[in-house]
Amino acid sequence: MYKTLIEHLSAEKIVSGEMLANELGVSRMTISKRIKKLISEGYDIIIVPNKGYRLGSTIDILDYNYIKQNIDEKIDLQIFDTIDSTNTYAKNNLVDKKQFAVVIGDEQTSGRGRFDKKFQSPKGTGIYMSFVIPCNKSLEEIKHATCAVAVIVAKSIESFGSDEVKIKWVNDLFINDKKVCGILTEATTDLETATVESMVIGIGINVHTTKFFDQINASNIGINVSRNELIVKLINELCEMSSYEDYMNEYRRRSLLDNVQINFTYNNVAMTGIVKEINSDGNLVVKCENEEIILHAGEVSIGSDNVKK
Ligand code: BTN
Repeated sequence: MYKTLIEHLSAEKIVSGEMLANELGVSRMTISKRIKKLISEGYDIIIVPNKGYRLGSTIDILDYNYIKQNIDEKIDLQIFDTIDSTNTYAKNNLVDKKQFAVVIGDEQTSGRGRFDKKFQSPKGTGIYMSFVIPCNKSLEEIKHATCAVAVIVAKSIESFGSDEVKIKWVNDLFINDKKVCGILTEATTDLETATVESMVIGIGINVHTTKFFDQINASNIGINVSRNELIVKLINELCEMSSYEDYMNEYRRRSLLDNVQINFTYNNVAMTGIVKEINSDGNLVVKCENEEIILHAGEVSIGSDNVKK
C-alpha cells in the first residue's frame, strides 16, 4: 500500500489528497497519515499546503521487473521493502540452494559492516544488496575475490559519471576522501573438505543518502543515478567477472593508502606506519619505525587517531 501510494506521486506535478484517496479507495485522512509515515521513514515527499503532495528529487523506487528483465534470467532475484540484513538473509536462506542469487533490501534494519559495525541503510536512498555465488573452491583460490568485487563496483559507479572512486584497503570505496560504499564478504565452508561452498558478497552503496548517523566520514556517490540502473550494471558486471586475480593491478592502482600514514593494531599493539604498497596477494605492506609489517586483514585508520577515515 505504501509503495503504491508513492507510485501515484510524481516529482513533476502536485497530486491532490483527494485524487490519491479516490485512486486508492481510502479516506483523505488515511492518505495524510500514510504520507507522514513515509516522510518519517526518510522518503523525500513535499507537502504543498492546500494543494497536495509532490515527490522530492531523490525518490528512486526499486523496480523488480526492470531489474529482472535486464539481468540473466537464471539469477534468483529477491527484493524486500525492508529486511534485517541481506547478507544474513542470504546466509540463512539461499546458500544451500547452490544457485547464483541476488537479494536486495530497500532498507535494512540491522545492516552489518566488517567487525560487527553497523551499516546505516535508510529506506529508499541506497543500494543494499547481497550476491550468493556458489563456488566450491579453496580459500586460496578465492583470496582475491573481495578485491575483484571492489574494482567492479568502483568502475560501475564511475561509469555513471561519478568522480574517481578510490579503494581503502581492504574494501571500502571512497570518493573525494569520503566513504561511499562498504563491502562485506562472508563464506560458508565445508570443514571436512576445506572448501568454500558459497560466498555471500554484501555491497552497501550510499546512492542518495544525505544524513549519516552511524558512519563516520561518509557521503553519497554524488551523482543523480537511478538505483535500478546501477543495480543492473553491478549484477551484469559481477556475472562477467573473470579470474579474480586479473583485477589486482587495478585494485592496487586505485589504492587510497599509498605513501599515507596509517594507524593499526598488530598483535594487540597500537602502531603507526607509512603504507609502502599493496602486494600481489592483496596484503598491505607498512613501513614502521624499525620493521616492515605485512597486514593480511584488519582495519586501519588514516592519519592521527583523532582524524580517522
Ligand atoms: C563495511 O562498511 O564494513 C561493509 C558494509 C557492507 C554493507 C552491506 S549492505 C548489504 C549487505 N548486508 C549487510 O548487512 N551488509 C552488507
